[in-house]
Amino acid sequence: MRQTIIAGNWKMYKTVAESVDFVRQLLPRLEPFSNVERVVCPTFVALAPVADVLRGSAVKVGAQNVAFNKEGAYTSQIAPGMLQGLVEYVIIGHSEARKYLGETDEDINKKAKIALEYGLKPIIAVGESLETYEAGQTAAFVGGQVRAALSGISAEQMASIVIAYEPIWAIGTGKNASADLANQIISGAVRGTVRDLYGDAVAGALRIQYGGSVKPDNMADYMSQPDIDGALVGGASLKLDDFTKLVEAAAQVK
Ligand code: 13P
Repeated sequence: MRQTIIAGNWKMYKTVAESVDFVRQLLPRLEPFSNVERVVCPTFVALAPVADVLRGSAVKVGAQNVAFNKEGAYTSQIAPGMLQGLVEYVIIGHSEARKYLGETDEDINKKAKIALEYGLKPIIAVGESLETYEAGQTAAFVGGQVRAALSGISAEQMASIVIAYEPIWAIGTGKNASADLANQIISGAVRGTVRDLYGDAVAGALRIQYGGSVKPDNMADYMSQPDIDGALVGGASLKLDDFTKLVEAAAQVK
């Protein structure tokens, strides 16, 4: 049984005060849906105060990135040890980090490995561009990203990993991938690749989210797909009512 996981990726939205105020209001709303794992990923500067509000509660905290070195002269970077005690999850390989920070598959693999070493659970994001999608190369491309991200990661460590399939053309565009299409890529290119690498048991236990224009009105469609185990949500996770409805829909369908 894979527990559904809904994570709100707040990207570069909400000040520290807004983040703290939001989680104070969100927590009682999300409390009832205990069959769903609920995670918020605020900006780095809000992690400590948000973690203080949520410590021991029904809602978990994730970071949006992590450096791939333990420490050193890396101005602007946040080391995995600095996140320990603050977060349970860390998003790695988001398409925006790949694009704006120039992160490569190799960087993402290093980040996943060091995160695991520090007891942080990676949410590894993969997904193709519109060009790749239109060229019919999605499965090969996404499968390649999955293989690269997981290189050198053991079957045992896979229990701590979540993969998020986020087609870049569906992020923040309002143009979501249909639930059928998302399930097809997730079951084939993501879970299928993990099955090739680690076998049936690991692949069957791996939680895979869909991300890209997930909203309250399409959430139930995604959640009713057999291979989709949750969602990584941007825009809709910034709104109290929407975030609550997403978790509620997941709790009902799954
Ligand atoms: P939207 O839900 O705003 O499309 O963002 C998806 C995303 O990038 C989550 O990581």
